[in-house]
Amino acid sequence: DKINIVAIVGSLRKDSLNLQLAKIAQSYVEGKANFEILNISGVPFFNQDIEYPAPEEVQRIREKVKVADGVWFFAPEYNHFFSGVLKNTIDWLSRPFSEVEGHVLSRKPAAISGITPGLSGTLVAQDHLVTLLSFTNMDVMNRPRLSIAHGMEQVNEDGKLELTASSSYLFKQADAFIDYIKNRK
Ligand code: FNR
Repeated sequence: DKINIVAIVGSLRKDSLNLQLAKIAQSYVEGKANFEILNISGVPFFNQDIEYPAPEEVQRIREKVKVADGVWFFAPEYNHFFSGVLKNTIDWLSRPFSEVEGHVLSRKPAAISGITPGLSGTLVAQDHLVTLLSFTNMDVMNRPRLSIAHGMEQVNEDGKLELTASSSYLFKQADAFIDYIKNRK
């Protein structure tokens, strides 16, 4: 049986570089694993007043993550941190918490990638994300991670991410994540 990977992109922007990166990963992975990019644009701000029953959009992504074999995060860097929409989504996924079963993120393999037009390559944000994911008890694949700096150098005249120089690193990470998931099954 094919393994199921879901991707969570920490940017809601239509032309998001990180979304485009996730889509390139998706076409590469096709045939090797199922790969679905979750749409988190309808996830409301977390508010304990509306926690039970959880909004439909939350229940939908919770179920997707629950049945997934791994979660691949494509995270932009905002002020040397990951984005608020990503934190908000992870907060929703981290509830409800059971002492016995944890929550849908518990023990779930995680991979992390990010691209930025800037020079930091999203590395600082990724380190913060590792801290958060570890706290949620995800199994983070720390190597390889993918961080792409100067992302616009790999964008063509139409504004499309071509991923010339970095594609082999993305593909290696995809293969590594599939192995990481399979080896712990
Ligand atoms: C940014 N950007 C940015 N880039 C970076 O490399 N380090 C950073 O700390 C920040 N900080 C930051 C803060 C805020 C509020 C915004 C809106 C942007 C630039 C960011 O990398 C760029 O907008 C990317 O294109 C965002 O990712 P998507 O939407 O293309 O996936």
